[in-house]
Amino acid sequence: MSGKHGSGILTVLILLALQLQVLLVGGDYIPPAKPGGFLYKNRHFDYDTIRIEAFYDPLCPDSADSWPPLIQALDHYAARVSLLVHLLPLPYHDNSFVASRALHIVNGLNRSATFPVLQSFFKYQEKFYGAPTRNLSRATIVDEIVKFVASVVGNSYQTSIKNGFNDTNTDLLTRVSFKYATSRGVSGTPFFYVNGFVLPDAGNALNYSDWRNVIDPLIGAKKSI
Ligand SMILES: *[C@@H]1O[C@H](CO)[C@@H](O)[C@H](O)[C@H]1NC(C)=O
Ligand SMILES: *[C@@H]1O[C@H](CO)[C@@H](O)[C@H](O)[C@H]1NC(C)=O
Ligand SMILES: *[C@@H]1O[C@H](CO)[C@@H](O)[C@H](O)[C@H]1NC(C)=O
Ligand SMILES: *[C@@H]1O[C@H](CO)[C@@H](O)[C@H](O)[C@H]1NC(C)=O
Repeated sequence: MSGKHGSGILTVLILLALQLQVLLVGGDYIPPAKPGGFLYKNRHFDYDTIRIEAFYDPLCPDSADSWPPLIQALDHYAARVSLLVHLLPLPYHDNSFVASRALHIVNGLNRSATFPVLQSFFKYQEKFYGAPTRNLSRATIVDEIVKFVASVVGNSYQTSIKNGFNDTNTDLLTRVSFKYATSRGVSGTPFFYVNGFVLPDAGNALNYSDWRNVIDPLIGAKKSI
């Protein structure tokens, strides 16, 4: 074999190896083994319900504002409407990835605690905004978020939550939810889909009567089918 051919084959092998690597890295994320998202009150997210998908950033003020009217609507419709929450940690909210990862950690420890923690982030999110945490190290921010979350779910969880931040799988879950959001074309929060369709003005905080206006006709239409 001449040197020229040898190096040609080598180049092809290197290219194949690189391509394989890209495929394997991609395979870590898409599609995930289980569809992601947090299911509100474990309601059935299926074809018998009106399905709302909400994309939220736990440290986003507009997400926080949109939460109470959505919950009011969900309480009103009870089992006829289901909610699946996906997290989209926005890059310009400095601590959002840590907060989102904390939610995935809690969801793995005690699924019923996920929404209480999300609600607490919405309520007290100011202290994790960029400006007040500007001088804190990443490690300090993780510690503060661990303490904050433990204060919501119970201090007996503190060590498990802390350990969760050393578990690469919780990092992966948080990345998967981010990638899922972008794959649905979502780049801001809050953002809503209803029965798989994007709502007009889905980036606006909808109030309770807006939700009623969206869902009432669907409930009526479903009855008549
Ligand atoms: C899980 O979380 C829920 C809601 O915060 C709480 O009521 C329940 O006691 C927790 N379960 C355990 C085993 O800690
Ligand atoms: C951060 O550090 C700078 C310089 O020491 C100080 O001026 C500023 O007030 C600090 N900011 C916060 C939010 O602690
Ligand atoms: C997490 O990992 C870091 C370094 O890899 C280590 O210093 C730290 O003690 C670990 N924390 C826990 C809670 O296991
Ligand atoms: C809800 O928002 C709509 C605009 O989206 C507005 O017209 C309406 O007055 C608001 N209703 C309440 C009760 O605030």
